[in-house]
Amino acid sequence: MSDWKKICALGDVPVLGARVVDSASHGRIAVFRSAADEVFAVLDKCPHKAGPLSQGIVHGDTVTCPLHSWKIQLRDGQVVPPDVGCVKHFATRVDNGEVFLAL
Ligand code: FES
Repeated sequence: MSDWKKICALGDVPVLGARVVDSASHGRIAVFRSAADEVFAVLDKCPHKAGPLSQGIVHGDTVTCPLHSWKIQLRDGQVVPPDVGCVKHFATRVDNGEVFLAL
């Protein structure tokens, strides 16, 4: 069973941006916030060549990697075709204005 960890306030994650969380067990995790205030979390490591996804551009529920523009679906970490791959995805929830991450 996942362990829910309180990460930060929702307001600490920029809209259409990300905040990086250091996890002892997984390393750097990028926590994203969409225009609709949905929160997603994936490893901050592009499956192509380890680009920092936290510095990518969020559009809808997808982020574009800043290095070579692969697109990653934030709901499940899958790469958008024609590119292929996936990045580890973490469940998130927002409760009372606080963001929780399942680690
Ligand atoms: S490292 Fe992300 S697209 Fe190349």
